[in-house]
Amino acid sequence: MSRSTLPEFLAQHHVTADLQTVILGLAEVSVTISQALAKGALAGILGAAGAENVQGEDQKKLDVIANDLIKDALAKLPAVRGVASEEETDVLPCHTDGRYLVTFDPLDGSSNIDINSMVGTIFSVLPHTGSAPVCEQDFLQPGRNQAAAGYVLYGPSVMLVLSTGNGVTMFTLDQDSNTYLLTDAEVSIPADAKEFSINMSNQRHWTAGMQSYISDLIAGKDGPRSKDFNMRWVAAMVADVHRILCRGGLFTYPWDSRKPEQAGKLRLMYEANPMGFLVEQAGGEVWTPEGKILDIQPEHIHQRVPVILGAANEVKTCVDYHK
Ligand code: F6P
Ligand code: MN
Repeated sequence: MSRSTLPEFLAQHHVTADLQTVILGLAEVSVTISQALAKGALAGILGAAGAENVQGEDQKKLDVIANDLIKDALAKLPAVRGVASEEETDVLPCHTDGRYLVTFDPLDGSSNIDINSMVGTIFSVLPHTGSAPVCEQDFLQPGRNQAAAGYVLYGPSVMLVLSTGNGVTMFTLDQDSNTYLLTDAEVSIPADAKEFSINMSNQRHWTAGMQSYISDLIAGKDGPRSKDFNMRWVAAMVADVHRILCRGGLFTYPWDSRKPEQAGKLRLMYEANPMGFLVEQAGGEVWTPEGKILDIQPEHIHQRVPVILGAANEVKTCVDYHK
């Protein structure tokens, strides 16, 4: 069976030449990252980097390596006006006439690195509409504006999952030729859920609405939902959302009373928006308890947001518990 390669798919789907270079640049650098991950301890690249990022999180060596690789790869592309990364305090200017801005989480779920579990790279491509030189304000566009969004999941196989606004397509890396080949063109999230994904250890810190929603899921057939639900938590958003794109369900990372001033844990511009774009493109819903995430006007590149996403009916039910 002959499968489309990623470049063939982009050309067939009339993605602009500039946007193609951005997506192909990200795909190429992800192969290098996947090779570094595969070497693991043999390359001496596991463990802490000994520094904190702007979010106050301890950086892993591979967070820094992946960040540098992606930043350098994007900076070479004339189509890229500027980039913003989870691991960089400020936005970084690139080419003065580039048409696109790229935000990224170089290695999502990086606490999984040292246990040889799944991690991923998340990216969001926005049009550049401001004037030179690029500044943070240019990036502060609602997720709805994304020209493309996607992620690379470094798992038993390496997969690139992409949307340019026309559905969601999954590609798998052929490790013999180092090319991404199309493996699923019909990604769709069923409206009803049988599975949910949340870090249950935080239960006592959630809002009353979230506590009673999750209690009712756990009560299963014996509770008000009259239905059993299964639970899964990989602790890497990229892997938990990948499962939802593959077989449905609801994912949430809610607000937490331990840091009441913090909206949530996940970051709007390089986690919730790109993953949310994919989920909406696959027919799912993406909300905070107040409204749709892709409509939020960002105020800061590192802003956080509570996230409820996945199966359309289940997300609505969860939001209703907050009213
Ligand atoms: O990037 C933040 C992140 O690692 C997500 O990928 C993941 O969903 C979440 O944090 C895991 O949080 P916790 O440590 O509470 O399980
Ligand atoms: Mn992350």
